[in-house]
Amino acid sequence: MPASSSGKSRDEIAEAYSAPPWWYDIRGFFILTFAYNSTLWNQLRFFGPNFGPRHLEVACGSGTLLELVLRWRRGKRLPEREIAAIDYAESMLVGAHRRFAGQPNVQVRHADAAALPFPDAHFDTANIANSVHSFPDVDAALRDVFRVMKPGATLAANVLLYPRTIEPFRTIAERINRWGMRKGILYTPYRREDVRERLESIGYEIVSESVSGNCYNVLARRPARG
Ligand SMILES: C[S@@+](CC[C@H](N)C(=O)[O-])C[C@H]1O[C@@H](n2cnc3c(N)ncnc32)[C@H](O)[C@@H]1O
Repeated sequence: MPASSSGKSRDEIAEAYSAPPWWYDIRGFFILTFAYNSTLWNQLRFFGPNFGPRHLEVACGSGTLLELVLRWRRGKRLPEREIAAIDYAESMLVGAHRRFAGQPNVQVRHADAAALPFPDAHFDTANIANSVHSFPDVDAALRDVFRVMKPGATLAANVLLYPRTIEPFRTIAERINRWGMRKGILYTPYRREDVRERLESIGYEIVSESVSGNCYNVLARRPARG
């Protein structure tokens, strides 16, 4: 567990997400802009292509981003996929259930990323958007996602890094992070090497990686023979 972690349990983290979904979405916009120093457009282009025939969306929250990603895919005329979307916070799932009620290809379930209710080698792709740094046991979550991925399947994840932008943006990001940790919506930011090592020690191969703003974007694969 990182020394600087907020030390919150899964249930405390779920409780921190008990804000109404509309407030969560507005708050999310500010966090994206000022803590991640990223844009929605960057996220759509990063997560949008990583959807195989059977896809797992880990920690979907209220489903706002997933819905926008699926719209982005439709705009690009990319194929419709079978999607399992999970999250640990019941309050977030209320929004997701409502959002995807008319889309039978999107199944929303309450689950812990570290104890996924799916068989081994089940999914062609998995995305973890804006959430790795919220997991109280990040290794257990990344390991269980690896377990349910088919050999050759790809995982796309973005991870919040310790602020690296210039002043005054760095101080703003540090303040937002401290607030997020107190509240329980952020477990800890990471260093890129730390995330990379965790992924590789579980068995993932890094396919591509980049850093933009305060975010590490990584595409990793379960090896075809693994
Ligand atoms: C910042 S939100 C991101 C939601 C969504 N992916 C997005 O990009 O808008 C982080 C989400 O991680 C979820 N979460 C935290 N720990 C979890 C766990 N162990 N298992 C499943 N979901 C978890 C929270 O409930 C929350 O909905």
